[in-house]
Formats: sequence, C-alpha cells, structure tokens
Amino acid sequence: MATQPNSPDPRSRLIIHDLAQRNGHADFARDIRRGLTSDPKHLFPKYLYDELGSRLFEAICQVDEYYLTRAEDEILTNHADEIVASTPNCKTLIELGSGSAEKTRKIIEALIRLRGELLFVPVDISASALEESSHALLDSYSSLRIDAYAADYFQALEALPARDESPALVLFLGSNIGNFEQNEAIDFLRAIRRLLRKGDALLLGADLKKDRATLEAAYNDSLGVTRSFIVNELEHINRELDANFDLWAFGLRSVYNESLGRVEVYLESLRPQSVVIGRLDLTTDFKAGERIHIENAYKFDPEDLRKIGEQTGFQLERTWLDRRGRFSSNLFRVSE
Ligand code: AVJ
Repeated sequence: MATQPNSPDPRSRLIIHDLAQRNGHADFARDIRRGLTSDPKHLFPKYLYDELGSRLFEAICQVDEYYLTRAEDEILTNHADEIVASTPNCKTLIELGSGSAEKTRKIIEALIRLRGELLFVPVDISASALEESSHALLDSYSSLRIDAYAADYFQALEALPARDESPALVLFLGSNIGNFEQNEAIDFLRAIRRLLRKGDALLLGADLKKDRATLEAAYNDSLGVTRSFIVNELEHINRELDANFDLWAFGLRSVYNESLGRVEVYLESLRPQSVVIGRLDLTTDFKAGERIHIENAYKFDPEDLRKIGEQTGFQLERTWLDRRGRFSSNLFRVSE
C-alpha cells in the first residue's frame, strides 16, 4: 500500500504496523514471572508504557525536577537547522521510542523547510501513543507521510524495510539509551548501523553525569508523578494477569549509583506482604523494605559517547549541550 503525499485526508498518509500485539501477552506473562521469582526481584521498563503509562511519562516531562526533556528541546530548538543541514538530501526520518514526538517536531519542521516533503518512521512500544502522535503530526504537516511501527526496539529494527538509496537520519532521543546496559547499547547501535548506509546519521540524546541531588530529584519528583508512572507497572500486572498488588504498599526509591554512573529506580515494599498473581498461579512474598528493581537510567560523559560510536561503526561528528550543560545531543555519522 502506497501512502499519498499532500493528500487532504491525513489518514491516507499513515500506515501503522502493530507488531507489539503478536506474542505480546505470552511475553509479558513470561517476563513478569521471571522477574518476580528472581532474587532480587525485578521488572522490565518496557512494560511501564501501557496507554496510561505513556501519558504519565508525558506528565513527567512537564514536572519541574525532570529537566531532561526541556534541556533536549532547547538544543533541538536552537540547532535543528544545523542538525539536518549535515544530511542534506535526507528524505526519511526514523525515530526509535518516539512517544508523543513533540521534540521531533523541531527536526521535522527543519527537514520540511529544506526538502518540502518527508517520510517519518516512528517506532514506539505503545500503539496508542503512536496513533495519537501520528494523527497530530499529519494534521500539522500536509507534506508529511508516516510509516509507524508499534514494536519493541529490536523487533522493529528487524521489521523495518531495507533502506532505499536516499539518505536517512535516525533519532534516538530523550536519553532512552540510558535504559540499556553497556553491552545492550552497543548491540542496539550496531543494529541501527546495519540499517544505514555511508553518510547516514544518528542523532543520540544522552543525559550527562552531574550532582546526585539533581539526578535523584529528577527521578523522584515532589508531585509524585514519577511514583505514579512506576507504580502503574504494578497496576498493569493487576489488570493483565489478575494480580492483587496494593499500590499504596509500595514506595518509590530512586538512587544515584555514582560508581556505576546510573540512577537506579526501585519500588520498595512498605510492609511484609503477599501478592497473588492469579493468571500466573503464583504467590510472591515481600519483606518490609524489600525492593523490586524497575529500571536504570545511565548517565554519560561526552567521552563515553565517542567511544560507543567507535565500537559500533559511527563517528561522533558534533555534540551540542543545553545552556546549563545538563544534556547532550550527539550527531554520529556512518563512518565507512
Ligand atoms: C524514558 C528511559 C528516558 O530514564 O529518564 C523517567 C524513563 N523513568 N523517570 C529516563 C523515566 C523515570 C526515562 N527514559
């Protein structure tokens, strides 16, 4: 099916491939069982992003303490034209973890100014977020076409069609890379690299190492939005797997592990308790103070990023920081 440029009906310029549905339920059940029967217990960050979870993450981006989104938006606002000028014939913009795609608008607008038309290929784990953001973008830009993938990252990279001759720019924003362990980040960038050709570019948003107080506040805001976002994963388990987690019985603990350069996000059981997960036929016991590890948010030095590029077939061409030097946008070029 071909999408129509400049069609008055925005929906005729949209294709959504929903890969997240396939196997989704079985994978979820298997991962939750594995996580809750491990010692220490853990859960996976990708299951934070159900429909409500994606909305709660958007709310996090607006709280005072969570500076990442505003810092990155400042960089993209000030430098989008320079960023896209470095890949002048770019006709395809691919974004991994596009979410609401609000910051992406800066890049989309710069590319449309330069080229007149554009194919946007967003990938997100949340089909609802993809659908909402795609409709909003198509309403805003009449020369935009969208080919969207609801999928996890690796699934999407395998499913994306081979690139045609025209240059592409890939976005991986928001310090989403911080959720990966170092070896996973390297595998992931190599998988992106395999999709690309010489001259193509990757813009990688990475949060920088900084003082503990700023980092811990960013992951434990005083409004409690981060707690809602994280505890919503237990609600997701209650709903999908017929469990009885008492959401009030878990507190948010976000700690900066300075030696590993990462914020570790946990839920902590506030009392001894047993939780029944009906569909898994599993009862899991918690001691008072016992933690469930939910996610890591790795923080970077500009030097770390250059090295990651070198190991994955990219050359770090340029780095921009926000005025206060909190966040980095890194433009990598496919080197050979
Ligand atoms: C979406 C992974 C970039 O690590 O900063 C925000 C997720 N978790 N607050 C981050 C998150 C708690 C976020 N990423």
